[in-house]
Amino acid sequence: MHDTTALNQAMDHFDGHDNVWLFGYGSIIFKADFPYLARRPAHILDWQRRFWQGSHDHRGTPAAPGRVVTLVEAPGARCAGMAYLITPEEFAHLDHREKNGYLRVVTPIHFAEGGVADGLTYVAAPDNAAWLGPASEADIAAHIARAAGPSGPNRAYLLELAAALRALGEDDAHIFAIEQHLIRLSS
Ligand code: BEZ
Repeated sequence: MHDTTALNQAMDHFDGHDNVWLFGYGSIIFKADFPYLARRPAHILDWQRRFWQGSHDHRGTPAAPGRVVTLVEAPGARCAGMAYLITPEEFAHLDHREKNGYLRVVTPIHFAEGGVADGLTYVAAPDNAAWLGPASEADIAAHIARAAGPSGPNRAYLLELAAALRALGEDDAHIFAIEQHLIRLSS
């Protein structure tokens, strides 16, 4: 596996800051397994969420990767999620958790209550070793239906993400279409 931990730890954009906003758009929305100082619904602009990244270590295996979300640049798009205010030490844990191709990217984070702050999010770009890329939403659902890894079934990841977005009152046509295909496959 190509491990991005060292690349992320060389990033110094927020050096000297007591705390940093982290924007979560995937499992971090529903599984914040790190301490945080504050948590706020938020969105970022010019990125869209896509099930285009392979997961070798959480929702699949190297022999049978699962599919998880990443961010893809899309001018004019809006991606909703959850922002967490964390201390810089938490990034060591997050870099390890997201080592399968994700790099930290600096982005303005727009809070649902109003206001904006620069923060970080993790993006797996097309040049990473675990990248799977586009497929139809029906094919993505079929892939997710058969994958599982150390963190559990791939389908639970999708269903929990869709439920978390619904709880935030957010629409995401890509995620909800894959969810509908998956439900149809299992009924
Ligand atoms: C997130 O939930 O923001 C997230 C998704 C994929 C990798 C890292 C973080």
